[in-house]
Amino acid sequence: MLIDWNILSGMGSDILARMQEAADACLDAEKVNVPCMISVCLCGDDYIRDINRQFRNMDSATDVLSFPTVSYPAGRTAGSCESLLRHEYDADSGACFIGDLFISTEHVASQAAEYGHSQMREAVYLLVHGICHLMGYDHIEPQDKERMRNMEEKILSSVDVRRDGEDGTDDEKLLSLAREAMTRSYSPYSSYPVGAALRCTDGRIYLGCNIENASFSLTNCAERTAVFKAVSEGARSFDTIAIAAKTKAWPCGACRQVLNEFAPEIRVLVTWDGHVEEKKLSELLPEGFGPRSMDQNTQE
Ligand code: THU
Repeated sequence: MLIDWNILSGMGSDILARMQEAADACLDAEKVNVPCMISVCLCGDDYIRDINRQFRNMDSATDVLSFPTVSYPAGRTAGSCESLLRHEYDADSGACFIGDLFISTEHVASQAAEYGHSQMREAVYLLVHGICHLMGYDHIEPQDKERMRNMEEKILSSVDVRRDGEDGTDDEKLLSLAREAMTRSYSPYSSYPVGAALRCTDGRIYLGCNIENASFSLTNCAERTAVFKAVSEGARSFDTIAIAAKTKAWPCGACRQVLNEFAPEIRVLVTWDGHVEEKKLSELLPEGFGPRSMDQNTQE
Protein backbone atom coordinates (compact mmCIF):
# COMPACT_ATOMS: atom_id res chain seq x y z
CA MET A 1 0.00 0.00 0.00
CA LEU A 2 1.35 3.35 -0.98
CA ILE A 3 0.81 5.90 1.81
CA ASP A 4 0.89 9.61 1.14
CA TRP A 5 1.68 10.87 4.67
CA ASN A 6 0.69 14.33 5.82
CA ILE A 7 2.29 14.63 9.24
CA LEU A 8 0.98 17.68 11.09
CA SER A 9 1.55 16.04 14.45
CA GLY A 10 4.42 13.60 14.65
CA MET A 11 4.78 10.06 15.96
CA GLY A 12 7.90 7.90 16.29
CA SER A 13 9.40 6.41 13.12
CA ASP A 14 8.99 2.92 14.65
CA ILE A 15 5.24 3.57 14.89
CA LEU A 16 5.07 4.82 11.30
CA ALA A 17 6.95 1.73 10.10
CA ARG A 18 4.51 -0.55 11.90
CA MET A 19 1.57 1.39 10.42
CA GLN A 20 3.00 0.85 6.95
CA GLU A 21 3.27 -2.87 7.66
CA ALA A 22 -0.34 -2.95 8.90
CA ALA A 23 -1.54 -1.11 5.77
CA ASP A 24 0.16 -3.74 3.58
CA ALA A 25 -1.46 -6.45 5.70
CA CYS A 26 -4.90 -4.92 5.05
CA LEU A 27 -4.55 -5.46 1.30
CA ASP A 28 -3.20 -8.98 1.82
CA ALA A 29 -6.02 -9.95 4.17
CA GLU A 30 -8.63 -8.51 1.81
CA LYS A 31 -6.89 -10.22 -1.16
CA VAL A 32 -6.70 -7.02 -3.19
CA ASN A 33 -4.52 -7.71 -6.20
CA VAL A 34 -4.20 -4.18 -7.58
CA PRO A 35 -1.74 -1.64 -6.14
CA CYS A 36 -3.57 0.80 -3.87
CA MET A 37 -2.83 4.14 -2.31
CA ILE A 38 -4.26 6.12 0.60
CA SER A 39 -3.48 9.46 2.17
CA VAL A 40 -2.99 9.52 5.94
CA CYS A 41 -3.00 12.78 7.85
CA LEU A 42 -1.68 12.61 11.43
CA CYS A 43 -3.00 15.66 13.23
CA GLY A 44 -4.10 17.09 16.56
CA ASP A 45 -7.62 17.22 18.01
CA ASP A 46 -8.33 20.77 16.78
CA TYR A 47 -7.55 19.82 13.21
CA ILE A 48 -9.62 16.62 13.18
CA ARG A 49 -12.47 18.52 14.78
CA ASP A 50 -12.40 21.03 11.90
CA ILE A 51 -12.46 18.20 9.36
CA ASN A 52 -15.32 16.53 11.22
CA ARG A 53 -17.29 19.78 11.27
CA GLN A 54 -16.56 20.66 7.64
CA PHE A 55 -17.30 17.30 6.05
CA ARG A 56 -19.57 15.49 8.51
CA ASN A 57 -21.30 18.35 10.26
CA MET A 58 -20.09 17.01 13.63
CA ASP A 59 -18.51 19.59 15.88
CA SER A 60 -16.27 17.28 17.90
CA ALA A 61 -12.79 15.83 17.86
CA THR A 62 -12.52 12.09 17.24
CA ASP A 63 -9.85 9.39 16.88
CA VAL A 64 -10.06 8.52 13.17
CA LEU A 65 -12.00 9.77 10.14
CA SER A 66 -12.22 7.87 6.85
CA PHE A 67 -13.26 9.22 3.46
CA PRO A 68 -13.45 6.41 0.89
CA THR A 69 -13.23 7.35 -2.80
CA VAL A 70 -14.92 4.15 -3.98
CA SER A 71 -18.69 3.59 -3.58
CA TYR A 72 -18.89 -0.13 -2.99
CA PRO A 73 -22.16 -1.90 -3.83
CA ALA A 74 -24.06 -3.06 -0.71
CA GLY A 75 -22.42 -6.05 0.94
CA ARG A 76 -19.27 -5.86 -1.21
CA THR A 77 -15.75 -4.85 -0.24
CA ALA A 78 -12.52 -4.02 -2.06
CA GLY A 79 -11.42 -7.62 -2.60
CA SER A 80 -14.41 -8.33 -4.84
CA CYS A 81 -14.49 -4.93 -6.57
CA GLU A 82 -11.29 -4.84 -8.60
CA SER A 83 -12.83 -3.02 -11.57
CA LEU A 84 -14.21 -0.27 -9.29
CA LEU A 85 -10.75 0.11 -7.75
CA ARG A 86 -9.22 0.39 -11.23
CA HIS A 87 -11.43 3.45 -11.91
CA GLU A 88 -9.38 5.19 -9.22
CA TYR A 89 -6.08 4.41 -10.95
CA ASP A 90 -3.65 7.29 -10.80
CA ALA A 91 -0.90 7.14 -13.41
CA ASP A 92 1.55 9.32 -11.41
CA SER A 93 1.62 7.01 -8.43
CA GLY A 94 0.84 3.84 -10.38
CA ALA A 95 -1.80 2.93 -7.78
CA CYS A 96 -5.58 3.11 -7.22
CA PHE A 97 -6.46 5.82 -4.72
CA ILE A 98 -8.98 4.38 -2.25
CA GLY A 99 -9.35 7.32 0.15
CA ASP A 100 -8.18 9.66 2.89
CA LEU A 101 -7.69 9.01 6.58
CA PHE A 102 -7.23 11.47 9.43
CA ILE A 103 -5.89 10.19 12.75
CA SER A 104 -5.64 12.31 15.89
CA THR A 105 -2.34 11.68 17.67
CA GLU A 106 -3.86 13.20 20.82
CA HIS A 107 -6.55 10.50 20.73
CA VAL A 108 -3.88 7.86 20.06
CA ALA A 109 -2.11 8.91 23.28
CA SER A 110 -5.20 9.21 25.47
CA GLN A 111 -6.84 5.98 24.24
CA ALA A 112 -3.60 4.02 24.61
CA ALA A 113 -3.42 5.18 28.24
CA GLU A 114 -7.08 4.41 28.81
CA TYR A 115 -6.83 0.84 27.42
CA GLY A 116 -3.48 0.23 29.05
CA HIS A 117 -1.60 -0.55 25.84
CA SER A 118 1.07 1.21 23.80
CA GLN A 119 0.60 4.11 21.40
CA MET A 120 1.95 1.77 18.72
CA ARG A 121 -0.94 -0.62 19.19
CA GLU A 122 -3.51 2.15 19.29
CA ALA A 123 -2.13 3.88 16.16
CA VAL A 124 -2.03 0.58 14.26
CA TYR A 125 -5.57 -0.28 15.38
CA LEU A 126 -6.96 3.10 14.28
CA LEU A 127 -5.19 2.86 10.92
CA VAL A 128 -6.53 -0.67 10.32
CA HIS A 129 -10.03 0.43 11.34
CA GLY A 130 -9.84 3.39 8.95
CA ILE A 131 -8.49 1.29 6.05
CA CYS A 132 -11.28 -1.25 6.59
CA HIS A 133 -13.74 1.61 6.01
CA LEU A 134 -11.81 2.62 2.87
CA MET A 135 -12.14 -1.01 1.69
CA GLY A 136 -15.92 -0.90 2.11
CA TYR A 137 -16.43 -2.25 5.65
CA ASP A 138 -18.97 -0.71 7.97
CA HIS A 139 -20.24 -1.17 11.52
CA ILE A 140 -23.78 0.17 11.49
CA GLU A 141 -25.72 -3.12 11.19
CA PRO A 142 -24.77 -5.90 13.65
CA GLN A 143 -23.82 -8.39 10.90
CA ASP A 144 -21.64 -5.77 9.15
CA LYS A 145 -20.03 -4.90 12.48
CA GLU A 146 -19.12 -8.53 13.06
CA ARG A 147 -17.66 -8.82 9.54
CA MET A 148 -15.60 -5.67 10.08
CA ARG A 149 -14.32 -6.82 13.46
CA ASN A 150 -13.34 -10.19 12.07
CA MET A 151 -11.39 -8.52 9.29
CA GLU A 152 -9.70 -6.15 11.77
CA GLU A 153 -8.79 -9.08 13.97
CA LYS A 154 -7.38 -11.03 11.02
CA ILE A 155 -5.22 -8.07 9.99
CA LEU A 156 -4.03 -7.22 13.51
CA SER A 157 -3.07 -10.78 14.31
CA SER A 158 -1.22 -11.05 10.99
CA VAL A 159 0.99 -8.07 11.94
CA ASP A 160 1.30 -9.24 15.56
CA VAL A 161 1.65 -5.80 17.06
CA ARG A 162 3.07 -7.31 20.20
CA ARG A 163 6.13 -8.94 18.65
CA ASP A 164 9.53 -7.98 20.10
CA GLY A 165 7.81 -7.88 23.45
CA GLU A 166 7.72 -4.12 23.27
CA ASP A 167 4.02 -3.86 22.92
CA GLY A 168 0.72 -5.13 24.26
CA THR A 169 -0.86 -4.86 27.64
CA ASP A 170 1.69 -6.14 30.10
CA ASP A 171 1.06 -8.91 32.59
CA GLU A 172 0.80 -6.56 35.57
CA LYS A 173 -2.07 -4.76 33.92
CA LEU A 174 -3.79 -8.06 33.05
CA LEU A 175 -3.40 -9.31 36.62
CA SER A 176 -4.86 -6.15 38.04
CA LEU A 177 -7.80 -6.39 35.62
CA ALA A 178 -8.38 -9.96 36.86
CA ARG A 179 -8.41 -8.64 40.45
CA GLU A 180 -10.87 -5.96 39.43
CA ALA A 181 -13.11 -8.56 37.73
CA MET A 182 -13.03 -10.56 40.97
CA THR A 183 -14.87 -7.71 42.70
CA ARG A 184 -17.82 -8.26 40.35
CA SER A 185 -18.14 -11.97 41.22
CA TYR A 186 -21.59 -13.24 42.18
CA SER A 187 -20.68 -15.93 44.69
CA PRO A 188 -23.14 -15.86 47.62
CA TYR A 189 -23.00 -19.67 48.04
CA SER A 190 -19.26 -20.34 48.08
CA SER A 191 -18.05 -16.87 49.16
CA TYR A 192 -15.13 -17.65 46.84
CA PRO A 193 -14.93 -14.82 44.29
CA VAL A 194 -12.85 -15.43 41.15
CA GLY A 195 -11.90 -12.93 38.42
CA ALA A 196 -10.37 -13.54 35.00
CA ALA A 197 -8.85 -11.30 32.34
CA LEU A 198 -8.38 -12.89 28.92
CA ARG A 199 -6.07 -11.22 26.42
CA CYS A 200 -6.57 -11.78 22.68
CA THR A 201 -3.64 -11.85 20.28
CA ASP A 202 -4.95 -8.60 18.78
CA GLY A 203 -4.73 -6.93 22.21
CA ARG A 204 -8.42 -6.91 23.11
CA ILE A 205 -9.14 -7.95 26.70
CA TYR A 206 -12.27 -9.62 28.04
CA LEU A 207 -13.04 -9.89 31.74
CA GLY A 208 -15.06 -12.54 33.54
CA CYS A 209 -16.16 -13.46 37.05
CA ASN A 210 -17.80 -16.52 38.55
CA ILE A 211 -21.57 -16.34 38.53
CA GLU A 212 -23.23 -18.74 40.95
CA ASN A 213 -26.78 -19.98 41.07
CA ALA A 214 -29.14 -21.32 43.71
CA SER A 215 -29.18 -24.43 41.55
CA PHE A 216 -25.47 -24.92 42.27
CA SER A 217 -24.49 -26.86 39.18
CA LEU A 218 -25.46 -23.94 36.94
CA THR A 219 -22.57 -21.88 38.28
CA ASN A 220 -20.29 -20.45 35.59
CA CYS A 221 -16.58 -20.01 36.33
CA ALA A 222 -14.76 -16.72 35.78
CA GLU A 223 -12.57 -18.16 33.01
CA ARG A 224 -15.48 -19.49 30.98
CA THR A 225 -17.38 -16.21 31.42
CA ALA A 226 -14.41 -14.39 29.87
CA VAL A 227 -13.99 -16.90 27.03
CA PHE A 228 -17.68 -16.85 26.16
CA LYS A 229 -17.76 -13.06 26.19
CA ALA A 230 -14.74 -12.95 23.88
CA VAL A 231 -15.95 -15.58 21.43
CA SER A 232 -19.38 -13.98 21.24
CA GLU A 233 -17.66 -10.73 20.24
CA GLY A 234 -15.80 -12.45 17.40
CA ALA A 235 -12.44 -13.09 19.15
CA ARG A 236 -10.96 -16.59 18.92
CA SER A 237 -7.26 -16.13 19.29
CA PHE A 238 -5.94 -15.72 22.84
CA ASP A 239 -2.46 -15.48 24.30
CA THR A 240 -2.81 -15.02 28.07
CA ILE A 241 -5.42 -15.43 30.78
CA ALA A 242 -4.92 -13.99 34.27
CA ILE A 243 -7.00 -15.41 37.12
CA ALA A 244 -7.40 -13.84 40.57
CA ALA A 245 -8.79 -15.54 43.66
CA LYS A 246 -8.27 -15.60 47.46
CA THR A 247 -6.08 -18.71 47.19
CA LYS A 248 -4.00 -20.20 44.37
CA ALA A 249 -6.64 -21.35 41.87
CA TRP A 250 -5.59 -22.93 38.60
CA PRO A 251 -8.57 -23.25 36.24
CA CYS A 252 -10.92 -26.16 36.89
CA GLY A 253 -11.08 -29.05 34.44
CA ALA A 254 -14.07 -27.66 32.56
CA CYS A 255 -12.34 -24.31 32.04
CA ARG A 256 -9.11 -26.01 30.88
CA GLN A 257 -11.12 -27.90 28.30
CA VAL A 258 -12.90 -24.75 27.08
CA LEU A 259 -9.61 -22.83 26.84
CA ASN A 260 -8.05 -25.78 25.00
CA GLU A 261 -10.64 -25.42 22.24
CA PHE A 262 -9.22 -22.06 21.19
CA ALA A 263 -5.76 -21.71 22.68
CA PRO A 264 -3.96 -24.94 23.71
CA GLU A 265 -0.75 -23.00 24.31
CA ILE A 266 -2.28 -20.04 26.18
CA ARG A 267 -0.26 -18.70 29.13
CA VAL A 268 -2.17 -19.02 32.38
CA LEU A 269 -1.28 -16.61 35.20
CA VAL A 270 -2.77 -17.07 38.65
CA THR A 271 -2.61 -14.46 41.37
CA TRP A 272 -3.60 -14.65 45.03
CA ASP A 273 -2.65 -12.56 47.99
CA GLY A 274 0.10 -10.71 46.12
CA HIS A 275 1.62 -13.89 44.59
CA VAL A 276 1.78 -14.75 40.89
CA GLU A 277 2.50 -18.09 39.18
CA GLU A 278 2.49 -18.97 35.51
CA LYS A 279 2.01 -22.19 33.49
CA LYS A 280 1.09 -23.08 29.92
CA LEU A 281 -2.35 -24.61 29.39
CA SER A 282 -0.60 -27.59 27.76
CA GLU A 283 1.03 -28.28 31.15
CA LEU A 284 -2.31 -28.05 32.91
CA LEU A 285 -4.10 -30.20 30.35
CA PRO A 286 -1.57 -32.58 28.79
CA GLU A 287 -2.85 -34.79 25.97
CA GLY A 288 -6.04 -32.70 25.88
CA PHE A 289 -8.90 -33.53 23.56
CA GLY A 290 -9.26 -30.70 21.05
CA PRO A 291 -10.60 -29.70 17.64
CA ARG A 292 -7.91 -31.71 15.82
CA SER A 293 -8.26 -34.87 17.86
CA MET A 294 -10.90 -36.28 15.52
CA ASP A 295 -8.81 -35.54 12.44
CA GLN A 296 -7.33 -38.81 11.15
CA ASN A 297 -4.34 -37.07 9.56
CA THR A 298 -3.08 -35.94 12.95
CA GLN A 299 -3.12 -39.44 14.46
CA GLU A 300 0.18 -41.23 14.84
N1 THU B 1 -14.43 -21.13 40.17
C1 THU B 1 -14.03 -20.38 39.11
O1 THU B 1 -14.60 -19.32 38.86
N2 THU B 1 -13.00 -20.84 38.35
C2 THU B 1 -12.34 -22.02 38.55
O2 THU B 1 -11.54 -22.43 37.71
C3 THU B 1 -12.61 -22.79 39.78
C4 THU B 1 -13.84 -22.43 40.52
C5 THU B 1 -15.57 -20.65 40.98
C6 THU B 1 -16.81 -21.46 40.78
C7 THU B 1 -17.54 -21.22 42.09
O3 THU B 1 -18.31 -20.06 41.97
C8 THU B 1 -16.43 -20.95 43.10
O4 THU B 1 -15.24 -20.74 42.34
C9 THU B 1 -16.21 -22.11 44.08
O5 THU B 1 -16.10 -23.32 43.39
